[in-house]
Amino acid sequence: IPVDPFDLVIFGGTGDLARRKILPALFRRYCAGQMPEGSQIIGAARSDMDDAAFKKLVKDALAEFNPGPKPDADQLKGFLAALHYVKVDAMGTDGWKELAGKMREGKVRAFYFSVAPSLFGALAERLHGNGMVDPDTRIVVEKPFGRDLETAKALNTSLAAHFDESQIYRIDHYLGKETVQNLMAIRFGNMLFEPLWNSQYVDHIQITVAETVGVQGRGEYYDRSGAMRDMVQNHLMQLLCLIAMEPPAKFDPDAVRDEKLKVIRALDPVEPGDIVRGQYKADGERTGYLEDVNDPQSKTESFVAMKVHVSNWRWAGTPFYLRTGKRMKARASEIAVVFKETPHSIFDEDAGRHRNTLSIRLQPNEGIDLDVTIKEPGPGGMRLVDVPLDMTFSEALGPEAEVVTDAYERLIMDVIRGNQTLFMRGDEVEAAWAWTDPIINGWEARGDRPASYDSGSAGPEDSLAMMHQDGRRWREIRS
Ligand code: BG6
Repeated sequence: IPVDPFDLVIFGGTGDLARRKILPALFRRYCAGQMPEGSQIIGAARSDMDDAAFKKLVKDALAEFNPGPKPDADQLKGFLAALHYVKVDAMGTDGWKELAGKMREGKVRAFYFSVAPSLFGALAERLHGNGMVDPDTRIVVEKPFGRDLETAKALNTSLAAHFDESQIYRIDHYLGKETVQNLMAIRFGNMLFEPLWNSQYVDHIQITVAETVGVQGRGEYYDRSGAMRDMVQNHLMQLLCLIAMEPPAKFDPDAVRDEKLKVIRALDPVEPGDIVRGQYKADGERTGYLEDVNDPQSKTESFVAMKVHVSNWRWAGTPFYLRTGKRMKARASEIAVVFKETPHSIFDEDAGRHRNTLSIRLQPNEGIDLDVTIKEPGPGGMRLVDVPLDMTFSEALGPEAEVVTDAYERLIMDVIRGNQTLFMRGDEVEAAWAWTDPIINGWEARGDRPASYDSGSAGPEDSLAMMHQDGRRWREIRS
C-alpha cells in the first residue's frame, strides 16, 4: 500500500528505542522503497547536536542494530539525507520555534513520543501551543502507558486535552508481529477453525512468552514494573484478546478494538491461588535477579503464570493459561489451542489420550502446527498416534517468508497511512489496567514474595503444579 510523503519527528531521537528499533525500521522501509521522496525524519532531543552529528549517530546505530548484511552505501546516503536534528527542551521553550519552522504544509505529520511518559503531557501541550497540530496530525506513544489505572487515565486525559483519539497511536509492538496478525487471518480467513473455537470444543488455551535474557541493564525500570506490568498487562493481554474475541464485522480499527475491549471486560478477577510469581536465580555465569536489580529485598517478579477465565458465552469453562518470564530455558513464544478429547473411543487397542492442538509460534521459527491423530502405520491394529501438520512459514512459503518484517516497520508505516487497527485505544488500555490493578495490589498488600527459579528452567515448580492440579500440562518451551 503506497505511503504519502511525511514529516516524522522523533522526540527522544537519540535514545535507546530510537537507535535500536525506530531508526533501523525506518531505514529498512526506505530500502524497500516505502519512504517516498520528500519525506523527512527529525530527531529531537535535549543533547546539543547538529544534523551531521545526528546522522553519524544514526549511521552507528544502523551498524550496530540493523540485522543482516552491511547497508548498501548508496541507500545509506539517501536515507541519511532525509535526517535532521533539532535540540528541543520538552519542558521549556527552547527549540520549539525552530522545530515548528521545519514542518511543511501538505505532508503527513507525525510525532513519535519516544520519551518517558511523564513528558507526554508537556509535549502535547507545546506541539499545540506552537501551532504544529492540525486535525490530521498523529502522535505515537510507547509503553509503559501508565503503571496502574489512575496513571493511565491521567495520561489519556493529558493527551486528550490536545488530540482527538483518532490522532493517538498507542504502540504495543506485539500487534506488529507477523504471526500475531496471522492469528486473525487463521481465525477469520478459514472456515475450519471458527466453528470449533469455543468452550464446547476447546479444552484450554496456553499463551507462553518465554525469554532467555534477564533484565539486561534495565533493572531500575524493570524492578518498578515486574512481568505483570511489563508483559501481561499489554503484550499477553493483546494475544489473549485476539484469540478470544468475537469476529469483528470488518477489519477496521474500531470494529477490531471494540471486540478486544469486550474480552478484557469479560475477564474474571484472578484468585491468588491461580497465579504463580517467580524470580530467577543466579547460575554458574550469570547473576540472579536480586543482583541484577541491585536490591536483595526486591519482591518484583520476573516470571508470572496464571489461570484466567473469560466469562462469556463462548468461553465459559475454558481456562486460558498465561505465562511469561525472563531467563527461561529457550526464547519461545507460542499460543496453543488445545481441543477436547473425542467423547468416545471406538478403538479398543488404543489407550492414549489424543487432543488436537493448534499451536501458533510467534517467535522464533514463525509458523503453525496442527496435531492430528492418525493410525500408527504397521500391522499393530488400530493404535493411534498424533502427528503434526507443520506449516513453518519459511518452508511453506519459500525463502521470502524468512525475511520477517519487524513489528516497528509495519507499525510506523501504519501511522503514516493513518491506520489505527493495530494500535491500542485509550479505553482498552484502561480496561486492561482495571483488571491488572487488583492483582498487583493484592500482592503488595500481602507482601507476597515470588518463588525462586533456576535460570534456564521453565519457571518455578508451583507453575507446573498449578497445571497439574487441573490435570493438564504446560507445553514444552523450545525454540
Ligand atoms: C518489551 C518488554 O515490551 O518487550 C521487555 O519491556 C521484553 O522486557 C520485550 O523483553 C519482548 O519483546 P520481543 O519482541 O523481544 O518479544
